Amino acid sequence: MSVNYQLEKSKLPKHVAIIMDGNGRWAKKHGKDRIFGHHHGVDAVRSSLELCGELGIKYLTLYAFSTENWGRPKDEVLGLMSLLVHAIDNETTNLIKNNVKLNTIGNNNDLPEDVQMKLQESIDRTAHCTGVTLSLALSYSSQIEITEACKKIAASVLASDINVDDINPETISANLFTSEIPNPDLMIRTSGEQRISNFLLWQLAYAELYFTDVHWPDFDKDEFCKALEVYTNRERRYGKTSEQVKQ
Ligand code: IPE
Ligand code: IPE
Ligand code: MG
Repeated sequence: MSVNYQLEKSKLPKHVAIIMDGNGRWAKKHGKDRIFGHHHGVDAVRSSLELCGELGIKYLTLYAFSTENWGRPKDEVLGLMSLLVHAIDNETTNLIKNNVKLNTIGNNNDLPEDVQMKLQESIDRTAHCTGVTLSLALSYSSQIEITEACKKIAASVLASDINVDDINPETISANLFTSEIPNPDLMIRTSGEQRISNFLLWQLAYAELYFTDVHWPDFDKDEFCKALEVYTNRERRYGKTSEQVKQ
């Protein structure tokens, strides 16, 4: 565990969401194929998850594959899917040992059947765990998630289960994949791009954003602690004045 950072425990986020970007650029830097970068990205997942456990951060959500990523070259998509199967196979025992509960958000049905089966098996085997909840965003699109929520709510109105006037932000939240988990406090994106790329558009409404040039495979515990330290020094005002929130 990193010893370089004095992190005030009471100020740490409850939920960190990460756009794990830059595997391809990391691989290129090392003169290798993109998939080599994805493989090394798994180590960064392991260390981030470990740090959350050590610091008592209860929710970690990782953007692993967007709906837009289906448009990548076939070889890369297949490579990512087989990496996912292997990673779940190799890591599930560790997840249980570390009390990590696995969850997914996204359109799971789009995933190849073997991936769906492996995921479900791991979700079932870790269902009793009470430490960190790890949510993997797979075949995830925030716009589709919100659209599907709207459709479900519209159907409830048509069925006279709810009135139009009763629809409020909580109604929307309750119909998202993330209905069971709090909104992220901190969103980290690695590898230099400063965009959201269709990730948790609704849920990030009041998250603190942190961007780093470090590529995902190099995002170790030290880098994560750096982000957390920045977060603990931010003042979250939620529209109020600084004087008000200091009270
Ligand atoms: C993130 O790294 C992993 C996925 C999107 C699956 P990238 O593969 O996007 O890496 P870069 O951005 O091309 O370097
Ligand atoms: C976002 O990264 C998706 C994931 C990290 C899974 P991308 O590399 O796909 O995003 P863009 O294309 O740079 O916006
Ligand atoms: Mg990228």
